[in-house]
Amino acid sequence: MPAGKRFKVACIGAGNVGATVAQYCLDMELGDIVLTDIVEGLPQGKALDMTQAGPVRGYSCVAYGTNDYSDIAGSDVVVVTAGLPRAPGMDRLDLLEKNGRIMSEVCENIGRYAPESVVIVVTNPLDVMTYLALKKLGFPPRRVVGMAGILDSDRLRSFVAAELGVSMKNVDTMLLGSHGDEMIPLPRYTTVSGVPITQLMGQDRIDALVERARKGGGEIVSLLKKGSAFYAPGASVARMVQCILHDERQFVPCSAFLTGQYGHRDVYIGVPVRLGKGGVEEVLELELSTDEQEALNQSVEVVRKGIEGMKEVGVL
Ligand code: APR
Repeated sequence: MPAGKRFKVACIGAGNVGATVAQYCLDMELGDIVLTDIVEGLPQGKALDMTQAGPVRGYSCVAYGTNDYSDIAGSDVVVVTAGLPRAPGMDRLDLLEKNGRIMSEVCENIGRYAPESVVIVVTNPLDVMTYLALKKLGFPPRRVVGMAGILDSDRLRSFVAAELGVSMKNVDTMLLGSHGDEMIPLPRYTTVSGVPITQLMGQDRIDALVERARKGGGEIVSLLKKGSAFYAPGASVARMVQCILHDERQFVPCSAFLTGQYGHRDVYIGVPVRLGKGGVEEVLELELSTDEQEALNQSVEVVRKGIEGMKEVGVL
């Protein structure tokens, strides 16, 4: 980045998740934010409000709200949350067609105005939408990545920490597969300061915590009654933005494009990646048990059905 220039992060969709991403990014002083939405006044109002929190929170970065895609020009990272959230009882795949059409329109504009950006997709169904974004953008796959794994792993980390009465900061985990219900936990890679949880709690408790994390999004949807989670999703996206802008090369779970890893190609699925300046710098291949590989294959199958579904409805 040239001296004196701040990073620019565009959030497309200024709803609950988009605005929370913006808020965390500002608070972490990652860069200036452009909030975009189709609803007039919404991004402008939220951006003003967020900027005015700056003097109290102590950040110098500012947010700008707009309904004009040309304002995202020159963004280093573009976060896409535009779409419909999942409502109670609604399956992610139900959202496929509508969100697919929104994603296509959004990508056309990203391609036009921010062709050098790294794009983080958040709109559900996540792995399918990220695949669609890649195809619509025509960017190299490393510059199109989906946010899900960090959120799923955060949920599990918080539950493990509460169960053991330890700091959430001490708990680390890695997981694979699709978002939420199809996530594949890896308890042997879930540790408290390096100690695997398999040595700290019984299998029945591990299973219960994993199950709660797997259904974590649904638990929040049923409590809220309207809309879906946004604080932890927003924080997880901001963490990815930070990894990319600061070239941290952290080893994190993200939805990434496979080119033969784990026996799959031409599909997006949650896998461990090295996340840095260029986006997904590497997909890391862990050794999986037969059951884990089987679960991953099933997860991939679900995503492929979503991709087929998009072809059927003419989105792809
Ligand atoms: N361009 C820009 N913004 C759009 C467009 C579009 N074509 N279509 C819809 N939007 C905006 C809506 O106006 C709304 O403000 O996207 C925003 C979505 O915000 P919310 O409805 O609050 O949904 P949110 O909870 O933020 O979730 C967004 O992230 O986690 C996923 O499943 C979730 O797919 C959903 C997405």
